[in-house]
Amino acid sequence: MARRGDGGKCFNISVVGLSGTERDKGQLGVGKSCLCNRFVRPKADDYFTEHISVLSQSDFSGRVINNDHFLYWGEIRRVSEDGVEFHFQVVEQTEFVDDSSFQPFKGGKMEPYVKRCSNTKLQSAEKLMYICKNQLGIEKEYEQKVIPDGRFNVDGFLCLVDVSVVPSRPIERQLDFIAHTLQNLMKTKKPVVVVTTKNDEACDAFVREVERFINRKDFKGNIPIVETSAHENVNVDLAFVILAQLIDKTKGRTRIVPYSEAYRSR
Ligand code: GTP
Ligand code: MG
Repeated sequence: MARRGDGGKCFNISVVGLSGTERDKGQLGVGKSCLCNRFVRPKADDYFTEHISVLSQSDFSGRVINNDHFLYWGEIRRVSEDGVEFHFQVVEQTEFVDDSSFQPFKGGKMEPYVKRCSNTKLQSAEKLMYICKNQLGIEKEYEQKVIPDGRFNVDGFLCLVDVSVVPSRPIERQLDFIAHTLQNLMKTKKPVVVVTTKNDEACDAFVREVERFINRKDFKGNIPIVETSAHENVNVDLAFVILAQLIDKTKGRTRIVPYSEAYRSR
């Protein structure tokens, strides 16, 4: 966590979750981009439900993707219930797929995603903030914000698990993925929050399975789970705030409100 000149605190958050080709992740992504979009640009007009994943070579080497497998989502300020100002910067760790070969693009040293997503020191000179799919190729027509100093030091991770039913992606594949990923994330000693996504279409059995899995003793039962829906804008801010409080070692923590309760009190 960095201190800003104005005394505020800045939290650099990395959003991770099952990624790759359709064979790896099933027919749909787990919701990383939508969660980031809703958090950094919450207004209905700025929220897009479809984001980039399969790309042309020229888009991959454009300034937004910049030959990396992560997106810089920009910076946002939030004021907590007790009036403390929080600044967040957000990146999404994903895997971009070539639209001609349908294989992940080769860029830099290509570790498998489960390993690469735990990287805490990201670099990408002059990388532009991602806003939406249509921005690619016509970057000048959108706000052009560059990743500061071409660097991003991660303070904590949101590890996403989709609890909706997605064709060609059994829940076991995600549990296997988070088992490996959480081990790698925990080695970094940075705080982690597990975020279930798409709770507006949740399969109750999946929700219970994720809870059981995370509360196993190998994760020491101390990884918080926040139930979200980006489409319905439920608990999205809460996931980031809970992680910021862990990074900041805040004494009084915000209560984690279950999805149904948070949905009703919108
Ligand atoms: P990749 O980066 O390609 O791995 O995908 P991703 O994890 O970024 O997923 P993305 O946010 O692109 O969402 C994948 C699909 O799930 C899209 O069709 C979204 O509209 C849908 N989706 C995302 N969030 C929600 C949600 O809160 N509720 C529902 N019902 N669908 C969602
Ligand atoms: Mg994405």
